Amino acid sequence: MSSNIAPSANETALTDFLPLQGTDYIEFYVGNAKQAAHFYKTAFGFQSLAYAGPETGVMDKVSYVIRQNKLTFVLTTPLKTNNSIADHIYKHGDGVKVLALMVEDAADAWKQTTSRGGKSCLEPTVLKDEQGSVVLSGIHTYGETVHYFVERKNYKGVFMPGFRKWTSDYNPSETGLLYVDHCVGNVGWNQMNPWVDFYENVMGFRNILSFDDKDISTEYSALMSKVMSNGNGYVKFPINEPAEGKKKSQVEEFLDFYNGEGVQHVAIATHNIVETVTALQSRGIDFLKVPASYYDTVLDRVGTIEEDLAPLRELGILIDRDDEGYLLQIFSKPLEDRPTLFFEIIQRKGAKSFGKGNFKALFEALEREQDLRGNL
Ligand code: FE2
Repeated sequence: MSSNIAPSANETALTDFLPLQGTDYIEFYVGNAKQAAHFYKTAFGFQSLAYAGPETGVMDKVSYVIRQNKLTFVLTTPLKTNNSIADHIYKHGDGVKVLALMVEDAADAWKQTTSRGGKSCLEPTVLKDEQGSVVLSGIHTYGETVHYFVERKNYKGVFMPGFRKWTSDYNPSETGLLYVDHCVGNVGWNQMNPWVDFYENVMGFRNILSFDDKDISTEYSALMSKVMSNGNGYVKFPINEPAEGKKKSQVEEFLDFYNGEGVQHVAIATHNIVETVTALQSRGIDFLKVPASYYDTVLDRVGTIEEDLAPLRELGILIDRDDEGYLLQIFSKPLEDRPTLFFEIIQRKGAKSFGKGNFKALFEALEREQDLRGNL
């Protein structure tokens, strides 16, 4: 069935076979979870939340759970070689393994998605302890990345069964990070549309925005992107694929170093980007910088904004506007030695878009970095 008329909110609610309440957590497979947890606490202001490992009966891996507002990261490392986690790290370096989504009914989410062609990675499983039960299920998405469906309405514990509360004497202050705004996947040549179909058909998402290589190209390189959103807009997954240019696309560089498809960036919301980015920079996070000339003309393009331009210029924060408002955004350099995963910090002031007006300046800045690595 197809229609040119977008369904009303009511119809969407009625036909949403996979109602999502938001991102539950993001799990990273990393070479050293203890050190990674320390880094994310120190640099980004995450707080210690939970721990699983040999002391809690988990013999083959260790996981640290850290949280800031509605943002929960799980950092997992294997204790031995010859297992799927160790293989994942060997192949991809540190990276995102699980994009976990909060649902009312994890068994139904699994049934709805697998009956529509989703490939199961975890059949509905009930985890129990004295604090209640959590139901987990999961399906594969691009590369070796998976989506878990997490049902925690009957659980009162700190994270989930198998974990114990993790308290620490080291508690750096938070930096104003609030929740996941969107998560971007990089996929291979000609793979964007198959993955758009997957999110539409298997997960009931809609394509809300598209960018072709003319929108996202510099003199040298290009990419294409489509933004997928679930019914209520709480979960947004843009999908990028490389496009032909004179030189190597940033997406190709990612695919080369990640050894396949995977999560390129996690965009994190803040209510005050100037304060957040000031804190992150002072704690050692490096951001991409556009030329100072960007700020000479930016207000001609985006009109009046509430913020003073001077701190935005000083920090390198970018501005864009759409029909509904404006947004402020900035992109970190990769958070690993491999040029793979990075973070975006975003403050939305009405705008629901993704900063199309900044793409050119941003990708030129990215290419300068790629060139320094010898990968352009
Ligand atoms: Fe983004």
